[in-house]
Amino acid sequence: MSVTTLSLKKLKEEGKKFSCLTSYDACFAALSNEAGIDVLLIGDSLGMVLQGHDSTLPVTMEDMVYHTRCVKQGTSRSLIMADMPFNGNTTIAETIKNAGRLMQAGAHIVKLEGDAWLVDSIKQLSERGIPVCAHLGLTPQSVNKLGGYKVQGKEEAAAEHMLESVKTLVAAGADIILLECVPTPLAQKITESIEVPVIGIGAGNVTDGQVLVVHDMLGLTPGKPPKFVKNFMLEAESVQDALKAYDQAVKTKAFPAPEHSF
Ligand code: KIV
Repeated sequence: MSVTTLSLKKLKEEGKKFSCLTSYDACFAALSNEAGIDVLLIGDSLGMVLQGHDSTLPVTMEDMVYHTRCVKQGTSRSLIMADMPFNGNTTIAETIKNAGRLMQAGAHIVKLEGDAWLVDSIKQLSERGIPVCAHLGLTPQSVNKLGGYKVQGKEEAAAEHMLESVKTLVAAGADIILLECVPTPLAQKITESIEVPVIGIGAGNVTDGQVLVVHDMLGLTPGKPPKFVKNFMLEAESVQDALKAYDQAVKTKAFPAPEHSF
């Protein structure tokens, strides 16, 4: 049965975990779909992973539409989530137009990075039948404002602000929340405070779902991996084995372990 935003919500109600991985082409999408990965994210991380940039900022709408189309070709069961790139949502009209392009390319849900200021965009997209995932915490498109790829919500005031922002965005119609690099206790508080599913990356094993960049979890990314990454190829005989091991580790809460969390 195909994964939908409603089936993910049901998993949350039943206390079951779900898996998410980035995907940028039909080949990896098919392997991940086959391995049982529930959500495939066409992340703008493709700017770093595929294009070799040092941030996600250069990624264009054309890039996102192209890779969403590719992923759609390899997927039958997984939910397809596509990122709105940097500068893709500078006005509400542009947000609606660009989210529509991602949906026409094959996405089932669009992910927007931001904070409570996303509220109008989320309301407008919801009214037009476009599901939204709101990405908070470390939002890589704001790396220049944040001063680096750092854990967010460590101070009490920042944690309280994030919790309130999440509640506002859920009230506006957000279907999924994604938290990147936040302390585990904050991720737990947010996950328990809202009815919609929360996906985490560097947020501990307390969220409803987990996501990793597929190249990171296959050990393909050069250099020292971030703390929240585990290389699943080290104990696997094939890429397919590694994808299945990741899916199972997420679903049994074995991943992320404390050493992958903040
Ligand atoms: O672009 C991306 O791949 C992401 C994930 C790392 C959450 O936003």
